[in-house]
Amino acid sequence: MFGLFKRQPKEPGIVRIEPLGIELPVPGNQSVLQAALEAGVDFPHSCKVGTCMACRSRLREGKVKAIRDFSYVLSAEELKAGYILACQAKVAPGERIVLEVDIDSQRPHHPQITTQGRIAAQLPLTHDIVEVRVALDQPLAYTAGQYAALRPAHIERAREYSFAAAPAAAGDRELRFFIRLTPGGQFTGWLFEQSRVGETLEITGPGGDFWLRAADAPLVFVAGGSGLAPVLAVLEATANAGVTRDAVFLFGARSQADLYKLDAIEAIAARWAGGFRFVPVLSHEPPDSGWTGARGFVTEFLAAPTVPDLAGRHAYLCGPPPMIDAALAVLATAGVADGHVHYDKFLDSSSLGLKA
Ligand code: FES
Repeated sequence: MFGLFKRQPKEPGIVRIEPLGIELPVPGNQSVLQAALEAGVDFPHSCKVGTCMACRSRLREGKVKAIRDFSYVLSAEELKAGYILACQAKVAPGERIVLEVDIDSQRPHHPQITTQGRIAAQLPLTHDIVEVRVALDQPLAYTAGQYAALRPAHIERAREYSFAAAPAAAGDRELRFFIRLTPGGQFTGWLFEQSRVGETLEITGPGGDFWLRAADAPLVFVAGGSGLAPVLAVLEATANAGVTRDAVFLFGARSQADLYKLDAIEAIAARWAGGFRFVPVLSHEPPDSGWTGARGFVTEFLAAPTVPDLAGRHAYLCGPPPMIDAALAVLATAGVADGHVHYDKFLDSSSLGLKA
């Protein structure tokens, strides 16, 4: 008689994550955090064992089963307000919960300061991009991907430039920037006229929302022209941290003469803990130059086979607006969630020849 009854597989629990608007199953053997990370969701986390509170989120609907009592870590007020720890929460089969996550909880919180610095080096990278190294009067802490505003004393308006290197562990006293000559630009006109080593600059920073979010999903980076600066800083910081996420890095330029920092990219590729693929793409390289690499607009390569499994990747883009807009359209068509795309637009498209 017993053989007549067939056991029905249980429906997994479901979590809806707001404000991302992502809904996914939570298998019975996984925490909400595990399920979210496996699905490539940018869920704030750190310890994964219920001590750091990074995964603290508010339960708006439904019930969870606590793996470890939340009251060890969360206050009575937080518990009353419905907060839980996603790394210590399971969802019963058939149950549907709605969780509200503070996506910005990973946001860097460095104090913004204004300080003075001196140009310590001015190194040409291409015919129209220089690397400027600034020695600071006081340390300035930042997260890779952020920027600072620079202003020489005789110029009224400061210009914003991304840090081009990973920050030193104990606050930087030397900052690096890649600065492209902007035709008619007061600041860059002054900078490119002659060597400005020894000149004083006022620096205010850090600022900006372009920084690597903690997650387990594979990555794709796209940079164009001087947009390499924040991408290089993020890549360097990520390699230093030993992150094992698979990454593809597409770097768009007009010609071989416009490619720069290839040695630094090679060094990052060599010590990247996961898979790493670097693909330079040239849009205006003479046909007879002997270049055997990719030709065309960088966003044309934002697809398989150059970038496998694009839909599941988190994307970080920096470059001129036409490149960013084209990349956003490709990523949207591929099904990459908006919350997994981060970008910084540089208003310097005139010499890149990147398509709209
Ligand atoms: S990730 Fe640290 S408490 Fe959940």
